[in-house]
Amino acid sequence: MRIRQHVNPLLAFYDEFRGERPALPADRPVEVEIGCADAQFLFERAAREPDRCFVGLEIRDELVELVNKRAQAAGLPVVAVFCQAQKHLGEIFAPASVDRVYINFPDPWFKRRHADRRMVDDALVQGIGQIARPGADVLVQSDVWEVALDAMEAFERRDELFTNLAEPWTFWREGNPYGVRSWREQNAEETGLPIWRIRYRRSG
Ligand SMILES: C[S@@+](CC[C@H](N)C(=O)[O-])C[C@H]1O[C@@H](n2cnc3c(N)ncnc32)[C@H](O)[C@@H]1O
Repeated sequence: MRIRQHVNPLLAFYDEFRGERPALPADRPVEVEIGCADAQFLFERAAREPDRCFVGLEIRDELVELVNKRAQAAGLPVVAVFCQAQKHLGEIFAPASVDRVYINFPDPWFKRRHADRRMVDDALVQGIGQIARPGADVLVQSDVWEVALDAMEAFERRDELFTNLAEPWTFWREGNPYGVRSWREQNAEETGLPIWRIRYRRSG
């Protein structure tokens, strides 16, 4: 299967939600990775905590298909959903129904001229504010300084919704607290790239 390197999230094709809303049992905590690609992070989380539900959101439909096939074959509670996450969070999840959100290495769009294609913007932060339960944690990590800084700015501007778990306008310096790594995270660590992390908690 040919997997496209990038797709342009601004295309009108992505305005409409074309994915399938996952059936999520009400009594199980839900963890979501936005921009999951191969969902390595979620598969490793699911192997550790199989009583939870893990949902990967992805704009490249080939990857959605691959992840769902792998999840079925492995019998793990992981499901991928095809979407443009900045637009469709409210169509996928009920309000205040998500317990944790991961945004791992969100973008191929590190050039300034493509900054409007970046995933973590005000629309995404507001969408997460809507679907996250009070007390839910959000982890964002990137090896691109400008992308990490943009993401921090987007969350800090919504400080009525989210509290920075370090301090306002401060990166999280104590590493990834979850003990599993995404493919990009593993790659960045193995090649010695710096990783910028921010952590927020949904207030309320
Ligand atoms: C650089 S990859 C990182 C993949 C994975 N999280 C990791 O750390 O290995 C970013 C992923 O986000 C997806 N993506 C980018 N913008 C998106 C959007 N608006 N909605 C959903 N997925 C998006 C891309 O297709 C890509 O698979």
